[in-house]
Amino acid sequence: MARLKVGVLISGRGSNLQALLDATADPAYPAEIAIVISNRPDAPGLLRAARAGIAHHAVAHSSRPAFAAQADALLRQSGAQLVALAGFMRILDTEFVDSWRDRLVNIHPSLLPAFPGLHPQRQALAAGVKFSGCTVHFVRAEVDSGPIVAQAVVPVHPDDDEARLAARILAAEHRLYPLAVRLFALGRLHLRGNTVAVTGAVAGAVAGAVTGAVAGAPDSMLFNPPEALASASG
Ligand code: GRF
Repeated sequence: MARLKVGVLISGRGSNLQALLDATADPAYPAEIAIVISNRPDAPGLLRAARAGIAHHAVAHSSRPAFAAQADALLRQSGAQLVALAGFMRILDTEFVDSWRDRLVNIHPSLLPAFPGLHPQRQALAAGVKFSGCTVHFVRAEVDSGPIVAQAVVPVHPDDDEARLAARILAAEHRLYPLAVRLFALGRLHLRGNTVAVTGAVAGAVAGAVTGAVAGAPDSMLFNPPEALASASG
């Protein structure tokens, strides 16, 4: 089975990159990481790529177009078929976004369209919401916009501070991103205007299965689309 080649753009810690690397370690997972690019040379995520034996590059962000041109050249050389932003903290050049349209995804730690932009966990606490979560979406020019692929929900507890809520959401991110990339790699995501339909539902993945418990995730997590849960290992 030819696996989908994924390029990952990071800026820092790279824990979502690690979740993707861990998923791809299973030969049955339908995608592999072809290249990791960071706009920061000191990003710990680059070490994660190095440890996994994955090609990795630091590309200085001297300007938006200059970064985009270099990143684009590296991605195309690597054969990347999908670009996944994983904690990439810069706004991408519009031309880059357009040229990777529908092959460029991002993960954001809120239930978009609520709380786009910086400090979404802080925004969620300030708004007093009782649930928050994370979203994988196709990238469009406007920050944190674009058709939603998958979301996971976690509760907000009364004694949460930003760090505690961020950690709870991050644990959900680490499950959601490999699931979303898996659906893309299997060709099961279909854009219809601004929405994404997931086809090829696996028998048994009924609406009632939209629970974290089915996927072996903590009971407090809720994932959708439920089809993603058909493969608990991502
Ligand atoms: C994650 O919360 C991601 O959703 C956001 O930035 C954070 C990156 O964390 N865009 P990591 O670098 O993947 O650990």
